[in-house]
Amino acid sequence: MKLQKAFNATDFRKNGHHLIDTIADYLEDITKGKIPVMTWRSPDEALQDWDQYLTTNSSSEEFYKKIIQYSMHLHHPKYMGHQVAPPLPDTILSGLLVGALKNGSGLYEMSPLSAPMEKIVMNFFSKHIGYGYEASGFLTSGGTLANLTALLTARQVKGYGNIWNEGNPEGKQLAIMVSEEAHYCVDRAVRIMGLGDAGIIKIPTNNEFQADVSQLEKTYNNAITDGKIIFAIVGNACSTSVGAYDNLEAIGKFAQKHNLWFHADGAHGGAAIFSKKYKPLIKGIELADSIIIDGHKMMMTAGLITALIYKNGENSYRTFHQKAHYLWENSEEEWFNLTKRTFECTKFNSVLEVYSLIKNFGVDIFDEYITCTYDLAREFAKLLEANSNFEIAHQPESNILCFRILKNGKTPSEINELNAKIRKQLLHDGKFYIVQTMLNDSIYLRVTLMNYLTKIELLEELIEEIMTISKEFDF
Ligand SMILES: Cc1ncc(COP(=O)(O)O)c(C=O)c1O
Repeated sequence: MKLQKAFNATDFRKNGHHLIDTIADYLEDITKGKIPVMTWRSPDEALQDWDQYLTTNSSSEEFYKKIIQYSMHLHHPKYMGHQVAPPLPDTILSGLLVGALKNGSGLYEMSPLSAPMEKIVMNFFSKHIGYGYEASGFLTSGGTLANLTALLTARQVKGYGNIWNEGNPEGKQLAIMVSEEAHYCVDRAVRIMGLGDAGIIKIPTNNEFQADVSQLEKTYNNAITDGKIIFAIVGNACSTSVGAYDNLEAIGKFAQKHNLWFHADGAHGGAAIFSKKYKPLIKGIELADSIIIDGHKMMMTAGLITALIYKNGENSYRTFHQKAHYLWENSEEEWFNLTKRTFECTKFNSVLEVYSLIKNFGVDIFDEYITCTYDLAREFAKLLEANSNFEIAHQPESNILCFRILKNGKTPSEINELNAKIRKQLLHDGKFYIVQTMLNDSIYLRVTLMNYLTKIELLEELIEEIMTISKEFDF
């Protein structure tokens, strides 16, 4: 009779009310920074604890509290680590509803609300990008899968023959061009496509970590001389490490000249299409044949949601051209049967999160969020520049900033060691969550300012904290 108990709506109501209250209390406390941004335990300690807990009797109240206690707190104003936004409460509720209904949005019949909502949401994206009426797309699960899907389309449209049916052409090396600063998932996608090491042609970057567009022709010509068939070029909007926007206009024109597919990886910074102030950063994005934008990054959704938008929506049907009689009756282009275009078969109707945000708040919510977090990174950079103990690696273009503390008389490797130790100490103390990266062989501390409640005073406090820790590590 376990199933009967487990499906019982009375228990669900009781636990559900309690859970919502617990989350609401949590949101109130965490946004005031009342508890540490995270409670550090080593992976082995955590494993042992959760293993023991599995067979421990506890109420659902205790269980929820323990889960919260040992999670990373994205809503904490001192969370400024990786590029994951604190989810808006509206999307937390939509996510709950999505889970309860569990409609598989790949097929219209299985989720009659998803495809119409996705079409509407895609039109919203297209309008802000500056695409025409022939644009369309869909939502998929994360930037990694969206980039792979876009590059699969690119290969089918601009590659060599019908690769979907016949495989990669024998004796020919297909390749894409992308800047050295691209997210690793672009490289991974190329390898998944069977193109190997030689399938990636790296465009050198300039001092601001953007693709050096003056090197495009040379890089292309060298690859062609090596016998490669280049079918696509990827522009970062923005890059991961430092949040740099490539010159999309120049890349777009270059792609047109050489008949390449132009894909814009806007997983993080593509949402700048919604910001009146920062839209100039993505000038030229409308030239891209495909664009991805992550909802869970700069659009504050709870779910893992990525929009993949095609300038010419027809192309989206060319990626996965298959028959599946158990799912659909024909191979016609049906905008409402999304499995014909998406990698996933069962796909949650998570569009509800975005549709709901647009319905309840409109574009202003994205504009406000992007503008205040991007503004703050600029303010923080000024603060660091005014402090002779610090160096910034770049002028911030987005809400990502890399910087490091310097010490007179220390070697480059000692400075690397110091910055890495500081970052680890901050993690263990749970006072701030920041991350690190390597740029030109130097370790930099890295913040992504994801919380609208993080203010400049807190960043002053971060500077003080780093200086205090650095004194402890004065080796
Ligand atoms: C530029 C860029 N592209 C792609 C990705 C991968 O996105 P996801 O983590 O949603 O798979 C990231 C993640 O940080 C990114 O910054």
